[in-house]
Amino acid sequence: MEEDVALALANGHIGFARTDARLRVLAREGRLSQWLPEVGANCCECALLFGMEDELRILLGNRSAFTLPGVHVPELGDGLRANIVIQANAQHGLSILTMADYGAGEIENLLTAERRAKQMADEKLLVETQRANVQTRINAITQERARIARDLHDTLVQAMVAVLANLRLVLKVMDADPQRAISELGATERLAREGLESARVALAQIRSNDIPPLTLGASIRALLEQLRARLEIEVTLDMQPEADDLTGLVAEGLSRVAEEALRNTERHARAHLVQIEVRLVERPEGRYALMRLSDDGIGFDPSDLPSLHFGLLGMSEQMDLLGGRMSIESVKGKGVELSAEAPLLNMEIERG
Ligand SMILES: Nc1ncnc2c1ncn2[C@@H]1O[C@H](COP(=O)(O)OP(=O)(O)O)[C@@H](O)[C@H]1O
Ligand SMILES: [Mg+2]
Repeated sequence: MEEDVALALANGHIGFARTDARLRVLAREGRLSQWLPEVGANCCECALLFGMEDELRILLGNRSAFTLPGVHVPELGDGLRANIVIQANAQHGLSILTMADYGAGEIENLLTAERRAKQMADEKLLVETQRANVQTRINAITQERARIARDLHDTLVQAMVAVLANLRLVLKVMDADPQRAISELGATERLAREGLESARVALAQIRSNDIPPLTLGASIRALLEQLRARLEIEVTLDMQPEADDLTGLVAEGLSRVAEEALRNTERHARAHLVQIEVRLVERPEGRYALMRLSDDGIGFDPSDLPSLHFGLLGMSEQMDLLGGRMSIESVKGKGVELSAEAPLLNMEIERG
């Protein structure tokens, strides 16, 4: 037994010291006791026991013991902690046993590693969130650019194409039929002026993106008023009151779809009657806003669309973006029926 203790002392796993009744160090053995003052000095003259004379005297007085667990002892070298047991001994002094606590270091290491791993995970999450935010912004910008490109196509490009075609006609007939040339020039001027006007409207829309939006009802009624002002046409609007008050992304998307659909009716349909119906419906997966728009015009073949025309495409993109869809049914000579729908966000239900 004494041999074992001697071995542990020699290997530096334990340290052993003792003091007299006046707390002076009598003996100090093993590397692990190096934290105590030299033999002959008061044991409280060290960092760990400084100012503890009273406690140690109480210990001596009632012959008890106490432990300092997991103490960081600089003398023991980096990262090593020790458990120190101090007890009153039979010689009226103190025995001080210092034991290396290898486990404490391990736990410390584990905790440090875990903390680092968590920190790294947090940092990674932050980077990913930032990347996702940037991606969302880029997507929004790209979509907005696509929309502006479509608006410009629908206004400026088409007007320019028409103006050019008219000018070519003017050049062709100028010599043979000056009278016709003059009247075509007049028509060309009108086309250019109209194109300019719609381009102005499109630009104003781009700029007014941050003005608080109209309710769905208000914006559709405004569109219909504009249509009636330009065209001899009968328009009916069947708007459910709940849908009338809708604002937000879905309301904005549906108004854009209605706007483009009415523009098509005006340009292509030669219709006498346009009917619009808007309502909110409950479905197992949530609330939806639904819009149906029909005209009694000449119709067209949806499977045979002209290339480089972006109106219909833009409408269905609008609805896709909102998690909804747009479909169009038409037969030549039988008019057009368009339906668009999108799920409402919670926020929109509360406001709507
Ligand atoms: N309400 C409609 N009545 C008749 N034809 C239509 C109607 N809406 C769309 N079309 C046809 O579908 C084509 C594609 O429409 P769109 O994608 O909006 O392009 P754009 O209006 O620039 O021609 C139109 O050129 C037209 O032939
Ligand atoms: Mg169009």
